[in-house]
Amino acid sequence: MDIKITVIDRTGESHQLQAPTDIAMNLMEVCKAYELPVEGICGGMAMCASCQCYILSDHSLGKKSPDEEAMLSEAFHVQENSRLCCQISIEKKLEGLKVELAPE
Ligand code: FES
Repeated sequence: MDIKITVIDRTGESHQLQAPTDIAMNLMEVCKAYELPVEGICGGMAMCASCQCYILSDHSLGKKSPDEEAMLSEAFHVQENSRLCCQISIEKKLEGLKVELAPE
């Protein structure tokens, strides 16, 4: 099954993505598949913060792992609603998720 996710890029443009819930993808990988400017330098290890995004909808994403917490405590432009896209796995409950890419 696919869910719909809205991603606002760094120019303010909104993109509708379809993300499959059954092949263990994370949001960083989905953004890259759509050629959005998410670098994912560390390959999804919560070690670079190049995939930082702000969660705009009120989905509950589950707690950050210690690695994600640690990375976000060192990254720039971090806000209350910051998360690392690579740590968000695509699941049914995220239907309608809306995020904005953080500045580079
Ligand atoms: S891809 Fe590096 S922290 Fe997400």
